[in-house]
Amino acid sequence: MRKLIGPFSEVVSFEEAPLKGPMKDEQLGIIANGGILVSEGIIEQVGDFESMAKEFSSTDIEEVTEASVALPGLIDCHTHICFAGTRSKDFAMRNAGISYLEIAKQGGGIWDSVTQTREASEDILKQNVVMRADKLLSRGVTTIEVKSGYGLSIEDELKMLRAIAKAGKKTKADLVSTCLAAHIKPKDFIGTHAQYLEYMAKNLFPLLKSEGLTNRIDAFIEDEAFSSEVVDSYFKSARMMDFDITVHADQFHVGGSKVAVEHGALSADHLEASGEEEIALLAQSEVVAVALPGATLGLGCDFTPARKILDAGGCVAIASDWNPGSAPMGNLLTQASILATFQKMSTAEVLAGVTYRAAHALGLKDRGKLNKGQLADLAVFPTNDTREILYQQGELLPFKVYKGGIVI
Ligand code: NIG
Ligand code: FE
Repeated sequence: MRKLIGPFSEVVSFEEAPLKGPMKDEQLGIIANGGILVSEGIIEQVGDFESMAKEFSSTDIEEVTEASVALPGLIDCHTHICFAGTRSKDFAMRNAGISYLEIAKQGGGIWDSVTQTREASEDILKQNVVMRADKLLSRGVTTIEVKSGYGLSIEDELKMLRAIAKAGKKTKADLVSTCLAAHIKPKDFIGTHAQYLEYMAKNLFPLLKSEGLTNRIDAFIEDEAFSSEVVDSYFKSARMMDFDITVHADQFHVGGSKVAVEHGALSADHLEASGEEEIALLAQSEVVAVALPGATLGLGCDFTPARKILDAGGCVAIASDWNPGSAPMGNLLTQASILATFQKMSTAEVLAGVTYRAAHALGLKDRGKLNKGQLADLAVFPTNDTREILYQQGELLPFKVYKGGIVI
């Protein structure tokens, strides 16, 4: 079925917008009074609504009568929304002066979520993922990456990834799963960090492939998690089996971004501690630097140096990192808007970071811009000025969200 949707006050097309480097707002590729021609869920043409209505006069028109800005459906390329329980006590403890790494050292933190998630059934986890995915969807996020990493045994990692796969059939959002078995070494594994990762690579990776659960492997490189050295062999095994790589890098200490570049990772995420050397390395590479302002707001640490990475020529995406520990809020646009304020990012840089640059971090070429051939995933906001969206810091909600050309 073919239809013409519009007129939108503004369509943010990102036509010709660059994958890397700084952006000016002219590069939003705004089409005023725009129309979007959709056929079988794919964008066939984007342009001036009036002329398109004449050219395709026999085509059905889905009229938009209100002030409206159409963005590409937002993409949250880093979340941990598959979890059970809460870590409100960590938040209170941190605010009382005990650091995130200190809580982990004392045996809490991520391990606490592992305990609570292991106790939950696959069905409960699935319901939790659907609930959180639908909340993101209502705010215009049509593609969501979801990590495992609170299972940390073969059986519990599989439970999480199966829950994510089943949730993907229940929500209208597209879910992209990632295996984060290398989150921390579980307390009940007898052996070294290297032995744990070897065990997971040998026994879990083949099951991920045979069940088709994920094509992506993540690791947390940090004190209290894994060293660059042990992750290096783990990633070699992953690459040999053709998995894509992504890294929790440079959150409190540097090291992870170098591993990301060496292994040709799709993305290096966090980077709050990255210095000049890491920024230059990332900017010269093809690795997407993913800023996670939600973790900065949850922990009270520095923001990812997004401005410097962009100015050095890098590709910056922005994600919510929604998780029970460091980033419990899960509101992508609020966080992206706050990052813009602190890092002095243009509207184009921020919106690129939550659309096509985030798609690139997931290796997805079919979404993130409103151009011919892209999926007709749209977040439509009730305003006639694109700038209003970040200005309202996440309070302006889309009044229509389209997935594959259909309003949901
Ligand atoms: O991205 N830093 C490591 N992993 C998550 C936090 C996980 C947790 O604390 O539960 C993050 O911030
Ligand atoms: Fe994370």
